[in-house]
Order: sequence, then C-alpha cells, then structure tokens
Amino acid sequence: MHVVHTLSDLQRALAGASLRAFVPTMGNLHQGHLDLMQTARNEVDARVGLGGKTVASIFVNRLQFGPHEDFDTYPRTLDQDCDALAAHGCDVVFAPSEKELYPEAQVFKVHPPAELADILEGAFRPGFFVGVSTVVHKLFNIVQPNLAVFGKKDYQQLMVIRRMVQQMALPIDILGAETRRAADGLALSSRNGYLSELERAEAVQLSMALKALAVAAREGCVSGRLDVPALEARAMDSLRLRGWQPDYLTLRLQHDLSPVCGPSTQPLVVLGAAKLGKTRLIDNLEV
Ligand code: PAJ
Repeated sequence: MHVVHTLSDLQRALAGASLRAFVPTMGNLHQGHLDLMQTARNEVDARVGLGGKTVASIFVNRLQFGPHEDFDTYPRTLDQDCDALAAHGCDVVFAPSEKELYPEAQVFKVHPPAELADILEGAFRPGFFVGVSTVVHKLFNIVQPNLAVFGKKDYQQLMVIRRMVQQMALPIDILGAETRRAADGLALSSRNGYLSELERAEAVQLSMALKALAVAAREGCVSGRLDVPALEARAMDSLRLRGWQPDYLTLRLQHDLSPVCGPSTQPLVVLGAAKLGKTRLIDNLEV
C-alpha cells in the first residue's frame, strides 16, 4: 500500500489503474469506514481484478466545520488508520496537508440546493453541505474515480453527493454502504471517542428512540392513523427526559427527505441528531 501526501505522488501511484474505487474519509477510522474500503475492494476485484486500484483519502476538512465545532480536536490517527486500511484491501492512501488541498483560500465552492442542504443537518450546521460538497467534488477531480463508496450513516450527505454527481454529470458510480453498529446498536462514529464511559452506555438510546419512532410510523401507515408531529415530539421528549439535547428526530421520505404528512406507501426513513453532554451524535434507520 502506498501512502502519499501530494497530488503529484497520487497521480504516480494511480497511473495505469484500469479502475479506481474511492473512499473519502476524515480519518480516525473504525469498522464502518473499513467496511466501505472492503466494499470498494470487492467492487474492483469483481469488475476488473488486478488492474484496478482502491484509494482512501484522509483529510479533516476545515470547510465543513462551523466556527464553534470540533475541527481542532477532531482525532488525527494517521499511522493507525494506514495499518487498518492496509489490512482491508486499500492500495493507496491519499493524506494531503491543508496547504496541499487548499493552497489558497477555496473561494469557488459547490452550493447544493437549499431544499436538500438547508434542512436537518444543514439547518443545525450552516454551510456544512457546502463544505462537504466542495471537498468531495475537489477530491473527485483529483482522484478521478470510477466509483466511490459512502456510508448510509450520513444519510443526507449520501443524498447530497448522489445529487451532485447526477447534476454535474460526473462519471462516477456512488455506492451506499450499510451503517456499522456496535454490539449494543450504537452507530460507529469517530465522535463516539468523545463520550465518557457513562455517556457511552447512554448513547445507544438515540438509535433506540429512532427504532421506536420507526415502529410507530410503520404501525401508523398500516392502521391509517399517523400523527407525525406527535410521534416526533414523543421521540424528542423521550431523549430530553434522559438528559439529551435533541436537534431533531424526524420521519421523512427516503427519496428526497421531505416531511411525511400522513400514512404513506412510499419508503420512509427516520433520522435523528442529538447532543449528549458536549458530543453531537447522528443516526438514521430506513423504515
Ligand atoms: P467521515 O465522517 O470520516 O466518514 C467517512 C465515510 O464513512 C462517510 O461516507 C460516512 O458515511 C462513512 N461512515 C461513518 N460512520 C459509518 C458507520 N458507522 N457505518 C458505515 N459507514 C460509516 O463523512 C465524512 O467523513 C466527510 O464528510 C467526507 C465525506 C470525508 C468529506 O470530508
């Protein structure tokens, strides 16, 4: 496995690859990230065999962090990450410095549409999806992948990337990978490392509240009686009572994340974000 830090070394490492499969990350990798790499590896092996290459990027992207968010404290564990990637079928790790990726202020940016990027995560983290779309577009231009793998853990992000690729006619297949969870059901996340032991034990309650919301939504769709605002309020209150500060727990259409007004036959998803102490966690479940 090659570990490269510059655009020119990356081009050299990828030269001649008949297929490029890409996994963008911010590092501090856990099994969820490694699943994405394994998916990339399997796709390459199935499509072209030996001639293809898998690439992971590790870059903590300042553009997608708000001024009071955790950019400075975000865990940076490059050596460990490279060992894990090498064991999961990665051919090339691209870990650029900020100067390499943003040699000057990034003034050209990708602005996703408000109806997708200013709701849910975007409503609570202004500019987040501009930062994500801009860096992913730039990384796509640098890596020139044929396919890229993203996690459903960041459901809205995956949707924003799919729309960007479609609207910009980027010749890249976007694959969505299932959320990897700990044994108790907590979705793996680099930010779980911020949790104290007590908070870690409590953290599973977010996925449990989402599960209860999903079950109630499914029952409501079957019975024809679905009071979405009441169910959402109940889900948020259940976490508040336990000391959480929920941003949203909500039932949405899978297809465009728009609100659900009543019983629906369309595929639905419940999404949630909530703070436990100082740590903000997100999760979702397809209904
Ligand atoms: P990061 O949070 O490091 O996540 C990198 C990829 O791993 C994303 O596609 C994310 O959805 C996926 N992932 C995270 N936790 C997961 C889990 N428990 N199961 C499955 N997949 C999981 O998302 C980002 O970085 C950044 O926004 C990025 C796209 C790299 C742009 O900077």
